Amino acid sequence: MIRFRIDGREVEARPGETILAAARRAGIEIPALCHHDLLRPYGACRLCIVEVRAPAKHGRPSRPRIAASCDYPAQDGLEVSTEAEPVRAMRRTAARLLLARAPDAPRLRALAERLGVREPFEPDPHADGCILCGLCVRACAEAVRAAAIGLTGRGERRGVGMPYGENHDACIGCGACDWICPTGILHSQADAAERFRRAAGEDRLCRYARLGLVPGAVCALSYECHRCDVEQMMRARFGDEHPALGAERLRRTGGATEASR
Ligand code: FES
Repeated sequence: MIRFRIDGREVEARPGETILAAARRAGIEIPALCHHDLLRPYGACRLCIVEVRAPAKHGRPSRPRIAASCDYPAQDGLEVSTEAEPVRAMRRTAARLLLARAPDAPRLRALAERLGVREPFEPDPHADGCILCGLCVRACAEAVRAAAIGLTGRGERRGVGMPYGENHDACIGCGACDWICPTGILHSQADAAERFRRAAGEDRLCRYARLGLVPGAVCALSYECHRCDVEQMMRARFGDEHPALGAERLRRTGGATEASR
């Protein structure tokens, strides 16, 4: 096991574990908005930053540095501070910037308040409520394994969408993107599932057909998959490894992130 200190307290971590994961296991709270235990860290929100000091080398103390704890591997002898004043100030700035993009997101507002953001902030006139944290994109690619959506555009036009703004065959309508979105902006897009149903239109292709698992299968149940034999068959065959179950896996294990519901 790796041993290091957080706020003066000795904490253990498994090899490869991040500071955030070790802290949470030890019951130490670090705010985080763009993290989910099942997904690769992306370091977008910067709310999980901490001050990290490596062990002294050749008798010389190392300089402290600021790092995203969701993406920083625990190491023997690290000294981590979650509450140093520069860290708190930078978190407040990060929260204000996120709020400028999503001023009406209730969870973000609550989190910002907990971090002590009291000052007014200037809403970004180009913002659409998406904070570009990439959780939906990672969930779709890594948990659902559909990779139907991605970050698109640049600058003011940066956003999330399907290639060329059109419905993508890879979308299986599982709703993982909607569920994991920390600002709720994806709700307003009639939900991926609903869009998928509309896009399927006359073809009414089964979502497993879209994944190439049941070639040519057509849905006769209005995509109420829980009533479908194909769904049961797929679950029996693939168990937890089935891509369509990615959304469920996220829900089951999502308790560790501020983004979870
Ligand atoms: S940057 Fe670590 S949780 Fe967002």
